[in-house]
Amino acid sequence: MAHTIVIFGASGDLTSRKLIPALYSLFKKGKLDQVLRIVGVSRSPFEHAAYRDSLRESTEKFTKDLFDAESWEQFSNQIFYHAGDIKEAEDFEKLAGFLTEIEEGEPVGRIYYLSTMPQLYLDAIQQLGAAGLADDSDGFRRVIIEKPFGTDLGSAQFLNEQIHKVFREDQIYRIDHYLGKETVQNMFALRFANSIFEPIWNRNYVDHVQITVAEEVVIGRRAGYYDGSGILRDMFQNHILQLMMITAMEPPARYDSSLVRDEKVKVLHSVRKMIGGDFATNTVRGQYKGYLNEEGVPANSQTETYAALKLYCDNWRWKGVPFYLRSGKGMSCRTTQIVIQFREVPHILFGQKTRAPMGNRLVIQVQPAEGIQLHFESKVPESEMKTRTSTLDFDFNASSTGGMPDAYQRLLLDALLGDASLFARSDEVELAWGIIDPIIAAWSSPAAPELHQYQTGQWGPTESNQWMADQHREWFDVC
Ligand code: BG6
Repeated sequence: MAHTIVIFGASGDLTSRKLIPALYSLFKKGKLDQVLRIVGVSRSPFEHAAYRDSLRESTEKFTKDLFDAESWEQFSNQIFYHAGDIKEAEDFEKLAGFLTEIEEGEPVGRIYYLSTMPQLYLDAIQQLGAAGLADDSDGFRRVIIEKPFGTDLGSAQFLNEQIHKVFREDQIYRIDHYLGKETVQNMFALRFANSIFEPIWNRNYVDHVQITVAEEVVIGRRAGYYDGSGILRDMFQNHILQLMMITAMEPPARYDSSLVRDEKVKVLHSVRKMIGGDFATNTVRGQYKGYLNEEGVPANSQTETYAALKLYCDNWRWKGVPFYLRSGKGMSCRTTQIVIQFREVPHILFGQKTRAPMGNRLVIQVQPAEGIQLHFESKVPESEMKTRTSTLDFDFNASSTGGMPDAYQRLLLDALLGDASLFARSDEVELAWGIIDPIIAAWSSPAAPELHQYQTGQWGPTESNQWMADQHREWFDVC
């Protein structure tokens, strides 16, 4: 059965930088078994040929060595453009007619990709329903929804309720592009395809977990979105909690979308709710110096561009083990890493001063370095019994043929294949908001913890380091 992907928001950045390059890469690698038609929908008028041409340059740029003119010709022949306004019911009827025409009346599987402004998601869904475009009696109908999915628990619940009036949950694919990253998926392999890590992956051996998503970039021209969002909504509710779920979840019985997501959801259920003084003691908030001068940012903005949280999972495996989560814009470097810090040995035989206090640490580098390091103590040669920290280093990239695929390749392919394991389910999204909302509320209240300023190009506010030191721990800051 042929497939059609209808992209709403066809003239947007995501379409040209990510979606079309990802689909072209899949085509070029021979991963698309069926005919794939792509229909871009936006308001501005475009001829098919002009639309194809407008995508060529960005596709070439973002697929680099993979690109060649001949295969682009073949691939882009199946790209169409249809002008339409998401607010206009009539335009959806025309779209339905256009789809039937290009699909030549054959049964096809269709994906509707919502890559518009989030304020339009609901209109698009309702119009699809009203125009009969969600009817899957002669081929699947799926909808992919970009983040942000709501701006708080209430809005996410409302969105879910309304979408469920048109699409069943198994037709809905909520994107979190972090789940499409190869190194994130490798966490499943590391944890569940090895017998050596799982026995020590718990409170008996793990002192704490650190999850860092640091970005060197500042907000640039995104103030319109960012200032109303802040880092908790932008990075924690989705990407960082996803990384935490995959780190903390129990093994599912099978690698199956329902079972995987059931286990992830259990992690969110176990996260201890912060109350009272917890918001001050278990969180750090910061704003980079210069944020208030960014174009479009109000002079008195209290929006945070850095956050560090200490969360606990109150369950059998993790009780008492802190999960330190942090993310910031304007940091020293771009790095995403998960650090499993193991406990100290029960009894120290050798000279304490010469050894790292907690030498056993597993570092999972998600990006831009992609690999795993295991730190352990070894003897300093030609010393008495002095030890030093040594590292076993695995480079994920070096073991793959060709470069790492972009996250969207995997996610688009999975959506075509009907595998929702790497997409967020409705309960997952709502539970995540349920964790983040109270922190946002506490940070917006008169009793909010101080918003610490930090210099760009550093590891966030110095108070965050002090906060760790007060807990006899330290951030693992490695670029
Ligand atoms: C997006 C956020 O979801 O993720 C951005 O809105 C952030 O603010 C981006 O920069 C980070 O993604 P990546 O893949 O570059 O780590």
